[in-house]
Amino acid sequence: MSLKPLLTLSTALTTLLATGLVLAQEPIQPIALVHNINLAQVELGKKLFFDPRLSKSGFISCNSCHNMSMGGSDNLKTSIGHKWQQGPINAPTVLNSSLNLAQFWDGRAADLQEQAGGPIANPGEMASTHTLAIDVLASIPQYRIEFEQVFGKGEIDIDKVTVAIAEFEKTLVTPNSRFDRWLMGENTLTEQELAGYNLFKNSGCVACHNGPAVGGNSFQKMGVVKPYQTDNKAQGLAGVTGNDADRFKFKVPTLRNVELTYPYFHDGESDTLTEAVEIMGKLQLGRTFTDEENALIVSFLKTLTGDQPSLILPILPPSTDQTLRPTPFD
Ligand code: HEC
Ligand code: HEC
Repeated sequence: MSLKPLLTLSTALTTLLATGLVLAQEPIQPIALVHNINLAQVELGKKLFFDPRLSKSGFISCNSCHNMSMGGSDNLKTSIGHKWQQGPINAPTVLNSSLNLAQFWDGRAADLQEQAGGPIANPGEMASTHTLAIDVLASIPQYRIEFEQVFGKGEIDIDKVTVAIAEFEKTLVTPNSRFDRWLMGENTLTEQELAGYNLFKNSGCVACHNGPAVGGNSFQKMGVVKPYQTDNKAQGLAGVTGNDADRFKFKVPTLRNVELTYPYFHDGESDTLTEAVEIMGKLQLGRTFTDEENALIVSFLKTLTGDQPSLILPILPPSTDQTLRPTPFD
């Protein structure tokens, strides 16, 4: 028997083990590409996501606060809503939000569809009502046609709107980051970034930031070792469960694309990753990182930036003579 096939086999096996095992042992997994997407719903949902006419002012769309040019966030401490109202909490990114175990910092919406109805009728955000928003859409023939093409005959309703938006949001994943390519066996990380990842793992960050989204899959207390000081009124999960033990538990945010989604924490009080990492070390783990260690972790976090969704800006169907006009100033 010739030795060659055996050798080839063992090389193949080594490669397989090198990648396969890395994947199996690491607490973070690559972002998967999306499958089973209803493309017609996605196209409609994309229009709705960008359509400011779903707001009372005719000025605020989902994209105003979840800006697709800025990592799906607004890069503000807290968002600006209808009539320049100061929002109560930092806007999380919509990128990879389909991977979250629930939506919002306190998880009060079970999934993306339930979430999507909220902001349209929230007086502090888009300040419309579902009835008004549907009236606007139904007054636009191109929307009526597109809703029928996607959902079959029947009136436009809020469920169809939120189903389409949620389907669009499912496409907003960011695969192919340098870190994911490293997970899959490519040599894409510098020594510094790898050292940062090892520190991230060994110091215990992965206890809460793990899985494909590097977070998003549990509620955890902010301030495990030391309490977090903030003027922000948000109570976290306790506001949903009424359980005092859940006070100050927040959905662990995803760290995917975290380089793009500053400022940090539910109150948006940390402007830089350096500051956020320092606070996490002290408050969650009781550990004070040196400047060098902090910089290593930050360099690792920046490898989590993946391919941003490449969107062709939708051209929205024009309003008609029948369309209700926006009232931005009342
Ligand atoms: C005025 C700013 C604003 C607008 C407009 C807005 N959002 Fe948000 N969004 C926020 C804020 C702030 C939060 C966090 C609220 C909370 O957790 O209590 C949020 C949370 C979310 C989340 C949950 C993400 C997570 O990780 O928990 C999703 C998904 C989302 N918004 C999608 C949308 C969609 C879809 C629209 C349009 C229908 C929209 N948003 C309109 C500010 C906004
Ligand atoms: C006990 C669970 C836990 C551990 C351990 C933990 N985190 Fe967090 N992390 C959280 C929670 C919860 C939040 C959100 C807190 C808030 O907004 O008030 C968060 C937020 C963050 C943020 C801000 C993300 C954003 O978008 O606002 C960064 C960055 C971060 N963590 C990095 C780290 C690093 C680095 C470590 C290790 C030094 C770490 N975390 C350890 C639970 C944890």
